Amino acid sequence: MDKIRELGLKGAEKMAKVFGKKKVVVVGDGRVGSSAVFALFQQSWINEVGVIDVVLPGHKDENGEWVKGFNAMHNVEGDALDMNDGASFLNGNGRVEGCDYSICDDADAVVITSGAPQKPGQTRLELLGANASIVAGVCKQLKSHLNDHCVVIVVSNPCDVLAWVAYKTLGIDSKRVIGSGCVLDSSRLKQEIGDDLGIDYRSVNATIIGEHGDSEVAAYSASHSTKTYLLLHLFTQLIDSTIMETQ
Ligand SMILES: NC(=O)c1ccc[n+]([C@@H]2O[C@H](COP(=O)([O-])OP(=O)(O)OC[C@H]3O[C@@H](n4cnc5c(N)ncnc54)[C@H](O)[C@@H]3O)[C@@H](O)[C@H]2O)c1
Repeated sequence: MDKIRELGLKGAEKMAKVFGKKKVVVVGDGRVGSSAVFALFQQSWINEVGVIDVVLPGHKDENGEWVKGFNAMHNVEGDALDMNDGASFLNGNGRVEGCDYSICDDADAVVITSGAPQKPGQTRLELLGANASIVAGVCKQLKSHLNDHCVVIVVSNPCDVLAWVAYKTLGIDSKRVIGSGCVLDSSRLKQEIGDDLGIDYRSVNATIIGEHGDSEVAAYSASHSTKTYLLLHLFTQLIDSTIMETQ
């Protein structure tokens, strides 16, 4: 931290100068995974983004008929090529590579987004049955390619429970397995408050705590913004209480 202060740099610049360029691999190239790859690809502190998806072998059905395997890696390779083709229009300076788990050998972080998303009316916890085996399967393949410093971030839902599944399957220090938790929900809350108050969401500091799911809680009492008096008004209306903290 002292070194960061000394350098007096900001955000991504700090990361690159202090920690060097980073490599992140995303597992699961669906809607969440491909968006993550695109966002990571544009960061100046990242020089390599890897992406992996499922390759299911073919098998014989109960009638002995051959059922062709599903190779989502074909899409991944195409996505990686498309992204590299567009690199000259973006701020980043990295490469995207679609590959197998060997790409994780020198990764700094692996982000797991593989698994089924919610259907209408379904809770995140109801995804557990399907997604626990997918995440455990991903981690079994990842295990032999995980270096000593790589951090694993679990986004697949229910992410808090699946972070535990990943931790148990990988058998590494719990500090290296992180669930994405309520980061998205907190960001949504900032957007909502910003929109309601007519201020930029970046001026709002608000957090959702608890499990990323139906039991999560908005920590209104710990929220504040550059226009605290407006928040006071909003919270009085919303929860009939006053905002405790000011900036
Ligand atoms: N934590 C959060 O804040 C948050 C937010 C949004 C979505 N999610 C979760 O992220 C997950 C992905 O959502 P999505 O909308 O991208 O779904 P999607 O169906 O678009 O993509 C899922 C991808 O996972 C791949 N996949 C399936 N099994 C795999 C395996 N064994 N190995 C590698 N890849 C595999 C699929 O081929 C597909 O490309 C869901 O579980 C969803 O609930 C979490």
